[in-house]
Amino acid sequence: MDIERLVEDFRSNFPILQSKVYNKPLVYLDSAATAQKPLQVLKCEQMLYTTLNANIHRGVHYLSEQMTARYEQARVQIANYIGAKSGSEIIFTAGATASINLVARSWSEAFLHTGDVVLVSQMEHHSNIVPWQMAAARHGAIVKAIPITDSGEIDMVAYDSLLSQSVKMVAITQASNTLGTCPDLERIITLAHGVGAKVLVDGCQGIVHGGVNVTQLDCDFYTFSGHKLYAPTGIGVLYGKSELLDSMPPFMGGGDMVDKVTFNGTTYAPVPLKFEAGTSNFVGAVALAEAIAFLEEHSELKGYEQRLLRYATEQLQSIDGLTIYGTAAHKAPIVCFNVEGCNHYDIGMILDKMGVAIRTGHHCAQPVMDRFSVSGMCRASFALYNTMSEVDALVQGVNRAVKMLR
Ligand code: ALA
Repeated sequence: MDIERLVEDFRSNFPILQSKVYNKPLVYLDSAATAQKPLQVLKCEQMLYTTLNANIHRGVHYLSEQMTARYEQARVQIANYIGAKSGSEIIFTAGATASINLVARSWSEAFLHTGDVVLVSQMEHHSNIVPWQMAAARHGAIVKAIPITDSGEIDMVAYDSLLSQSVKMVAITQASNTLGTCPDLERIITLAHGVGAKVLVDGCQGIVHGGVNVTQLDCDFYTFSGHKLYAPTGIGVLYGKSELLDSMPPFMGGGDMVDKVTFNGTTYAPVPLKFEAGTSNFVGAVALAEAIAFLEEHSELKGYEQRLLRYATEQLQSIDGLTIYGTAAHKAPIVCFNVEGCNHYDIGMILDKMGVAIRTGHHCAQPVMDRFSVSGMCRASFALYNTMSEVDALVQGVNRAVKMLR
């Protein structure tokens, strides 16, 4: 089957993409914020709620045992998908932000001390900056930013010079949610390990477009959200090397994370349950595994988004006065831009009336806006269901918006 047919076939699984907004066909170019959900995932959720719903790890009855088995199977499936050594290295969370906060709270409690340094890149999403600032404030540590170049890449010379024995953690994205840049993680991790630092990779935008093998990559922690990977909201994953997870104190206390509770003291369950207090989003976890299975069934499309990225970049560059932020050779399919004389927000509003959904503003990455001296950017982000004609609709829309605004 040719690529257009494969894309149409994939796209037909997403009912929302057939809808109209303001009587115009929806052109959804905001998948970096959240991806749309295929019927297979929606049906899986409905099936679980209508036939198997019962709390996990708590019942001897049929439904509870069935649901527990599905949840634990999902954990193993996700471990395999990201190349973890076992399911016990996979912790289900509410999303990547929750995963990073878990590490910033729990790992820091055991390992971050006065005068220690946490390095985060200047292109991080706020969720990979603020939890570290909070941890640093608690433990007397310092957060330093790894600068980025004009092309939106990690300044590796500056990174090298920031590394020292004081650096205990390097927190870095797999793909920037604004610039699209995919940093050279292998090199960054090797250098960090060389000074004894741990590395947390925020895989939110990266896993969607390139996948990951955490064991080969040798990162210490890896986080992602389900909702950007065609799964429901409210489910995410934290991967951690098992020896690290074992050595960290629990994050939240509650049911399911304990071994024995008495008023003289409490002992905790082993990982991963030690970090899964309360009723987990067990339906979300199984739905995430279903989304991954769905993607694996469509693996022929791998690499297609790079074509969308190249085409969108070429076409947008032909617009007079348009600047693209982030021109790294290795990018996720995310294009942030501004047009001279036009406000990003106005462009977004006009596009919206044409049915084209993009994100505008600071994208929860204000240090990136500061780096490029802008208050915000327009962002078009692509997924496997987008078509070349949707890129054309974006470009026509921006051209029209620019004419109106100038
Ligand atoms: N982190 C998401 C984005 O970049 C919400 O839009």
